[in-house]
Amino acid sequence: MANSPKFVIDGLRASIEDKEILKGLSLKINGGEVHAIMGPNGTGKSTLASALMGHPKYEVTDGSVTLDGEDVLEMAVDERARAGLFLAMQYPSEIAGVTNSDFLRSAINARRGEGNEISLIKFIRQMEGKMKDLEMNTEFAHRYLNEGFSGGEKKRNEILQMMMLEPRLVILDEIDSGLDIDALRIVADGVNAIRSEERGFLIITHYQRLLNYIKPDYVHVMMQGRIVKSGGPELAERLEAEGYDWIKEELGIVDETVGQGA
Ligand SMILES: Nc1ncnc2c1ncn2[C@@H]1O[C@H](COP(=O)(O)OP(=O)(O)OP(=O)(O)O)[C@@H](O)[C@H]1O
Ligand SMILES: [Mg+2]
Repeated sequence: MANSPKFVIDGLRASIEDKEILKGLSLKINGGEVHAIMGPNGTGKSTLASALMGHPKYEVTDGSVTLDGEDVLEMAVDERARAGLFLAMQYPSEIAGVTNSDFLRSAINARRGEGNEISLIKFIRQMEGKMKDLEMNTEFAHRYLNEGFSGGEKKRNEILQMMMLEPRLVILDEIDSGLDIDALRIVADGVNAIRSEERGFLIITHYQRLLNYIKPDYVHVMMQGRIVKSGGPELAERLEAEGYDWIKEELGIVDETVGQGA
């Protein structure tokens, strides 16, 4: 399909301050697919998200990342966003002095490119429509980005950005953390509403419950900075029931974190 993305991570290694955290991670995501990544704390999940977006703290030392054959690692952060990568962060930043709506409009226009900016009327109509879907008070449009937002409000706001930016690869890092039961469903509905062949999803979560609402095609387990096991939704169910020890036993892993040094 012409507009269906093909995202390929191959043998990715990344370090922070000379400590290697990603240790040869490979994953392919096609348009229309939802991949969930689960894994114990400190196994490199957020590092993967940051490295894919081009966070300057993480140095990629080996491997490749491509979107439709284009080298993502060569792109600056803004170019990655323009290419359609979107990350909802585990801990969204607060930016004082920039209103939520100004931020959103700039992001949309950056993504659309010069000469193709969204009209103000259309932007407002779209934003207000999506905010309504997400049961957000429109007051949030005029507040500074994430400033003083509650944990759940920040997560909803990330999903608002996702819905407006029409990304091609969506990375959600613990989008369910801090959400109340109703908000979890609202956020999941938002994700499901934009599921299509035109985009792929990488969803990092600790809990199978989110995956009841957003049905994944594939579930991967991350340990020691790489994917150690993959399966379907039944894998998440088994993890919920039994935890991670059986995988560690199966694979002979003693310490599942990225550990010290290599
Ligand atoms: N900026 C940093 N400085 C120092 N260490 C870091 C940094 N970023 C990540 N690390 C380390 O890398 C390891 C992996 O962290 P990461 O945040 O990727 O884990 P995670 O799998 O997302 O964990 P969690 O489930 O708790 O969110 C941790 O030991 C962490 O302390
Ligand atoms: Mg994390």
